[in-house]
Amino acid sequence: MYIHKQPHPIYSRQHFIAVVAQASDTMDSPVLFLLISLSFSLMSSSSSLDTIHEGTSLSIEKLEDILISPDGVFSAGFYSVGDNAYCYAIWFNKPSRGKNQTVIWMANRDQPVNGKSSKLSLLKTGNLILSDAGKLTVWSTNTQSLSSVHLSLYNTGNLVLKNMEGITLWESFDFPTDTLLPQQLLTRSTRLVSSRSQTNYSSGFYKLFFDNDNVLRLLYDGLDVSNIYWPDPWLVSWEAGRSTYNNSRIAVLDTFGNFNSSDNFTVMAADYAPKLHRRLKIDYDGDVRLYSWDDEGETWFVSWQAIQKPCKIYGICGANSFCSYIVGSDRKCSCLPGFKMKNLTDWSYGCEPEFHLSYNRSESRFFQLPHVEFFGYDYGYFPNYTLDQCKNLCLQLRNCKGFQFTFSQDDGFSKCYPKTLLLNGYRSPDFPGDLYLRLPKQNFFSYEKSVQDFTLVCSSKGTVQLDRTYKRSRENGIVKFMLWFACGVGGLEIIGIFLVWCLLTRTRQASSVDKQGYLVGITGFRRFSYAALKKATKDFNEEIGRGAGGIVYKGVLPDNRAVAIKRLNEPNQGEGEFLAEVSIIGRINHMHLIEMWGYCAEGKHRLLVYEYMEHGSLAQNLSSRALDWKKMFGIAVGTAKGLAYLHEECLEWVLHCDVKPQNILLDSNYQPKVADFGLSKLQNRNIENASFSSIRGTRGYMAPEWVFNLPITSKVDVYSYGIVVLEMVTGKGPTKGVDAIDSGGETEPKRLVAWVREKRNEATAMSSWLEKIIDPLLEGSYEKDKMEILVTVALQCVEEEKDARPSMSQVVEMLLRQEIDSHSDDHGVNL
Ligand SMILES: *[C@@H]1O[C@H](CO)[C@@H](O)[C@H](O)[C@H]1NC(C)=O
Repeated sequence: MYIHKQPHPIYSRQHFIAVVAQASDTMDSPVLFLLISLSFSLMSSSSSLDTIHEGTSLSIEKLEDILISPDGVFSAGFYSVGDNAYCYAIWFNKPSRGKNQTVIWMANRDQPVNGKSSKLSLLKTGNLILSDAGKLTVWSTNTQSLSSVHLSLYNTGNLVLKNMEGITLWESFDFPTDTLLPQQLLTRSTRLVSSRSQTNYSSGFYKLFFDNDNVLRLLYDGLDVSNIYWPDPWLVSWEAGRSTYNNSRIAVLDTFGNFNSSDNFTVMAADYAPKLHRRLKIDYDGDVRLYSWDDEGETWFVSWQAIQKPCKIYGICGANSFCSYIVGSDRKCSCLPGFKMKNLTDWSYGCEPEFHLSYNRSESRFFQLPHVEFFGYDYGYFPNYTLDQCKNLCLQLRNCKGFQFTFSQDDGFSKCYPKTLLLNGYRSPDFPGDLYLRLPKQNFFSYEKSVQDFTLVCSSKGTVQLDRTYKRSRENGIVKFMLWFACGVGGLEIIGIFLVWCLLTRTRQASSVDKQGYLVGITGFRRFSYAALKKATKDFNEEIGRGAGGIVYKGVLPDNRAVAIKRLNEPNQGEGEFLAEVSIIGRINHMHLIEMWGYCAEGKHRLLVYEYMEHGSLAQNLSSRALDWKKMFGIAVGTAKGLAYLHEECLEWVLHCDVKPQNILLDSNYQPKVADFGLSKLQNRNIENASFSSIRGTRGYMAPEWVFNLPITSKVDVYSYGIVVLEMVTGKGPTKGVDAIDSGGETEPKRLVAWVREKRNEATAMSSWLEKIIDPLLEGSYEKDKMEILVTVALQCVEEEKDARPSMSQVVEMLLRQEIDSHSDDHGVNL
């Protein structure tokens, strides 16, 4: 998507200019210089110069007092950074639209000057000074020269002060701010420092620098603490692939997109090729990114970034707060339960306790936050402590704020880290341990409540994590918390791309974040007005389905696309939450998952707009008996692929929890698409008041875990899938329509699974029992080998014990392996 061919003529032109410009550096004759400057002025259609001589001042009030590099790419001048506040800066003249240029260097980022009578003056002494409102010198190069000097802006983006002898007295490349340009060295004496925020250019907390051991690192140097966060601080240098032996401490970027550091760290940009413009920047969010200029799209795009999971960047959330991933922005900070934000406008101040914690043993209780890690600030590491021992240890320690506890199922090894401070917190389903937060016993449950405030998004039916158990029932707060978390983290992968995208398009109007814009940019997903949908459905005239969530109508959009519009029942969810949810679902994109094209949220109305599926649901097709073997097998494979994607590839944590024939839709080619995933989240059910049955899937398709109140994992969908497959091939519903031929004389119809198993166990040969269970309507016209595999896999899927069931991707693999085998068999026969 981002690969972009470099038009050759431009590259060679730049090359040509660079060569001539170099020549001009060595020429001292002002006349020649003027001539060359003039010729370039013509080429870059600008009347500005690239060089000033001693005794000259550049005034903030004169618009023409701007230096422009010979090729017109860079400018140096006064750059507005706020209300009547200016910094002397160098910026890219691209993108030319808008007024937000790409600033690459600033002289006085921490001390902007007045918009009136401020000046940059090249003194006769050889010193370059920036004076504020005509008086105070806020910045200078501290240079002096006996011979005359001149200041030039080169095509490289380097602002250089040279004397008559051609000796460089000062250059901006030696004093980087947050950006490194090609050919600019990062050295032992220089570092990149981020901006404070997207709109505040002053020095922020994040630094890229060479550490004392010669390793290039990222440091959060915050208000109270400093932490290295890249490479991962728990890795020793060589584990992170870094060398400590080369003490030259040099890193450099080239125009091909290679970034090389003397500690053996190298980066190759995704678009490795000679590019006109590149830059490496430490962004205000603490990540280091390599940007390339896309001439066609007139934008910068990210061709590499140091940190893929932005919650791993420390400091952003401050103390007693943790970072998690959300949709609509890259990440979010949340105070720990019982804590509140210290400074409502700046997260870096973190959170402070709302309680007074007396460190009396008997007055504390621990609150478990699953998959939350707070890094560093341990009293020590206590291996092989049990949870109770770890709790007791924390209670005995003075000032213990809580502890990190990890228990490995694999080797039975546990780790206990009591904490003196709660910093660098983040939540990720990848993290195998939990944080136990120490809270006062008094009002403990009210803090637990405060965690529930995070759980606006999911009801238990919708999305929970993949194969990661959680405690239900008693600790409902935690359940909700985790569900919320699961959803929140949901967009991680997408957010990676998304982040890149939004960095490109979002300029400095961060305040008016338009979620719509993001979504449209990615998928064409859009918001519809209620009136438009009313019209599309002819006033909700043609009902095509009805489910727990709402009624589905057929409609036709003005562009003649047929749509299925689901009107949700009783929305009791705010628009923001609804949007957050919808945007997650809207971004999930797979050929075997139904595509959402848009939504409507207006007043009480909440509607979802889906692609219309010509052949309706699998349920309809089963009851009309319209499927032949080929279609059946295709449906089994496609559905498995869709679910596997949902479980494992797209968002690891999305479970469907309501797989059934009504939710498998068929397109014009009878290719299945799974519908209704993630939907229950939109209904915002009140778990406390809901009866147990309403938070489970559909009767007949539910895994035993629901009934026995066991941990819910992706295996519940596997179970339901198995039932659907059995239903499809036997032509019998999961709970009814099965003959009650039971030796015990039970009158109740036997469950489909039990019936199939019984047939299998009775049988002596595979073929004979298959014949007994397969829908007679198929009249034996199916491939026996494949059918055997399909039924065997389905039976594995409906094992009572969840660990005995395969994962959805294993199902796909088993079904397709058979496909490949049978193809090669065919081949053999043909030969
Ligand atoms: C140290 O790094 C520099 C820059 O990457 C390289 O030119 C030099 O050869 C390295 N020195 C050694 C001893 O490897």
